[in-house]
Amino acid sequence: MKGIFITLEGPDGSGKSTISNLIGDYFAKLGIDYVITREPGGTQIGEKIREIIVDNENKAMGAETEALLFAASRAQHVHEKILPSLEEGKIVICDRFLFSSLAYQGVGRGLGIDRVKMINEFGLKGVKPDLIIFFDCDPKLTILRKTKNGGDRLELLGSEFHEKVYEGYKEIIKKYPENVEIVDARKPKREVYEEVIKLIDSLLKKKEVFQ
Ligand code: TYD
Repeated sequence: MKGIFITLEGPDGSGKSTISNLIGDYFAKLGIDYVITREPGGTQIGEKIREIIVDNENKAMGAETEALLFAASRAQHVHEKILPSLEEGKIVICDRFLFSSLAYQGVGRGLGIDRVKMINEFGLKGVKPDLIIFFDCDPKLTILRKTKNGGDRLELLGSEFHEKVYEGYKEIIKKYPENVEIVDARKPKREVYEEVIKLIDSLLKKKEVFQ
């Protein structure tokens, strides 16, 4: 595959979305062809699935259903957007990917990392990130801010759930350390951004996009 696939992972409120937009600005300035996308969602069908997932009225949703919906949204995303963009040689930056399901559904919901990985692999068509940037911050510090004025079905699960997800991420990184880089997301946004750009620059050099 000609393109480069970068995913951003971390607890709710770790600042991934802000940084992903800044990465886009950086690529635009360099004249690099890129796509910024997110999960759940990223395609028309995926955004419809996202609405079902985050809807606060769907209190009856079972953990297995939730995991399959995330996996379905991801499968469509790979099929319709991620894989075609990579085949065209673009850089794809995705706000959340497989590790989110492993952490939230595998560990947070207790479905098991391996089982959740298995249902996802069905839809991944062999796509693997070249770089996974983990935004490391304790959700105790961020989840209150996210839920102050409401919050979606998952954000409202409480700090115990989000602590479990955070511990889950650390376990997953230990289990699958390939291509993972950790950034301290408690630092000021400017510093986090500079660290992220350094990681991306070194990947682009390795892939010979830059000299
Ligand atoms: P996200 O879009 O990152 O949240 P926000 O609305 O704050 O931008 O993701 C929505 C929620 O879904 C978030 O709590 C994380 C959760 N999530 C999972 O539980 N599993 C997954 O596979 C993904 C992609 C997200």
